[in-house]
Amino acid sequence: MSVGVGGLAVDGLRISGETELVHGVDLALAPGEALGIVGESGSGKTLTLRAVMGLLPRGLRVSGGTVEAGGRVAMIFQDPLSYLDPMTRVGNLLAEVCRAQGGSVASARARARELFVAVRLPDPDTLMRRYPHQLSGGQRQRVLLAIALAAEPDILLCDEPTTALDVTVQAEVLALLAELRASRGLSLLFVSHDLAVVASLCDRVVVFRDGLAVETGRTGDIVNRPKQPYTRALVDAVLPLPALAEVGRE
Ligand SMILES: Nc1ncnc2c1ncn2[C@@H]1O[C@H](COP(=O)(O)OP(=O)(O)OP(=O)(O)O)[C@@H](O)[C@H]1O
Ligand SMILES: [Mg+2]
Repeated sequence: MSVGVGGLAVDGLRISGETELVHGVDLALAPGEALGIVGESGSGKTLTLRAVMGLLPRGLRVSGGTVEAGGRVAMIFQDPLSYLDPMTRVGNLLAEVCRAQGGSVASARARARELFVAVRLPDPDTLMRRYPHQLSGGQRQRVLLAIALAAEPDILLCDEPTTALDVTVQAEVLALLAELRASRGLSLLFVSHDLAVVASLCDRVVVFRDGLAVETGRTGDIVNRPKQPYTRALVDAVLPLPALAEVGRE
């Protein structure tokens, strides 16, 4: 089996530590598609993304199944502050990542500035000199996005990138992701416990529960005609939101 550039095929993925935590998950992402993963805390969303990246935490391993990714994969992690080095100015960090891609120090610096502009960080020359704690939550998330884009990924894995943000900033980051997806032809695998957020961005949704994918389908079908009681409960929890009314009319 072979996936095209930007495609991803996860078949029967199992992840184990002392016990099995993810019990045979299948995911299929077509090139350019946005696939959402929703599910309660502890259902295996982050571990699944980490397994796709090949970055499982120490003590955990892939104990079954296969992952095939077409092209480069980058990931935005759940908690930006733990990922960004507190002692390194964010502009220098990004320039280092760009430098690792090759080229001169000056061209890496210029590329870093371009990426700050691409993720709509205001006044890039000032913000590049800041340390992570001197940025707002939304700005930190944009820095993480810029770092991920520096690798020129075909597939972007996003782990709750907007959960810590207030609603307005969340909407801005979601709009930015949608725009980057369109302009760069990115495929997105987008994790959130919030079905409304996933519905606003994703073509299809996979519902996780207890380390299993319990339901999968087109976003409109999942929202309007959930098959599993668990999915219905997720839908009922967010149903008054306008974003879902839009999905229903697709
Ligand atoms: N390093 C680890 N060692 C052992 N167990 C772990 C480890 N990391 C996660 N787990 C367990 O694996 C299960 C899935 O964790 P995971 O982080 O994938 O959940 P999640 O769906 O991302 O939850 P959340 O919405 O809270 O982020 C949980 O039961 C968790 O306790
Ligand atoms: Mg998680």
